[in-house]
Amino acid sequence: MGLGDVERDADSDAFDDLLAYIESSLSFATSSYNRSYLDRRVSARMRRRHVEEYDAYQRLLREEADEREALLNALSVNVTSFFRNPDVWDGLRELLAELSDAGRVRIWSAACSDGREAYSAAMLALGDDRIDHRRVEILGTDIKPEILRVARRGEYRASETNDLEEQLEPLAHSDRYVERDGDAYRVTDEVRDLVSFRRHDLVQEEPPQTFDLVICRNLFIYINTEAKEAIFETLGSAVRPGGYLTIGMTETVPSSCRDRFEAVEKRLRIYRDTGAKQPSTARR
Ligand SMILES: C[S@@+](CC[C@H](N)C(=O)[O-])C[C@H]1O[C@@H](n2cnc3c(N)ncnc32)[C@H](O)[C@@H]1O
Repeated sequence: MGLGDVERDADSDAFDDLLAYIESSLSFATSSYNRSYLDRRVSARMRRRHVEEYDAYQRLLREEADEREALLNALSVNVTSFFRNPDVWDGLRELLAELSDAGRVRIWSAACSDGREAYSAAMLALGDDRIDHRRVEILGTDIKPEILRVARRGEYRASETNDLEEQLEPLAHSDRYVERDGDAYRVTDEVRDLVSFRRHDLVQEEPPQTFDLVICRNLFIYINTEAKEAIFETLGSAVRPGGYLTIGMTETVPSSCRDRFEAVEKRLRIYRDTGAKQPSTARR
């Protein structure tokens, strides 16, 4: 073993130690996330604070509450938008019309971030005559309580998310759903009435109930294979047989679940639950 290998091992031990500290003391489940993703985020904070070693950075975290908060913000990726990937929402509109024919429609926006995904579903339901919005119920969940507070308020600032106007373009009459007051864009009560929010951890918890459509997008890109399988297990028991699941446009269904979810629109990542049993992975 050369000197370089010894240094790399020591570095890797210090990184593991740092991740264990973040998991136990900062309550961020590092063990569910992709290691290189975590390293990129932590290293960016270290550069910012001019710290070169993981153990020195851990000491800094222990000493400074502000750095602990800054790191948690850097680790959580809450990027979202209204009607993210508009083509997907065209596909979902058709699905909702079909589901609405059969009666009540229960939708779960899982890992909903600040709620814009859940509100997009509500706006679709309100804007299409084929959909009886009085029978649509939408639940938005996320692991982060602070982001859920934003979701419940349903108010977004153009200065913080500068392309809000563009995000709302898929709507024919966005004024009906969003009130503008200077910089603030507030989702109207009619839209908010269709949606409720609660905290839920997709890795550790059972689904809240069963749904006709589960939307779980742009979370798998950050997490490791083990957590991905645990989440698919949660999603598998959340979609009713014959119901639908949609995931992010750059994400894939793990091979262990391919019998369970057949593609309805492969490009848009919209799948139907076939009811086939999925091999069980132990929930952590
Ligand atoms: C990039 S956002 C995706 C938001 C939205 N689904 C979209 O596609 O625009 C990922 C969200 O997943 C949430 N998240 C991360 N781990 C989670 C978990 N174990 N359970 C539930 N939500 C989680 C994060 O807090 C974040 O809000």
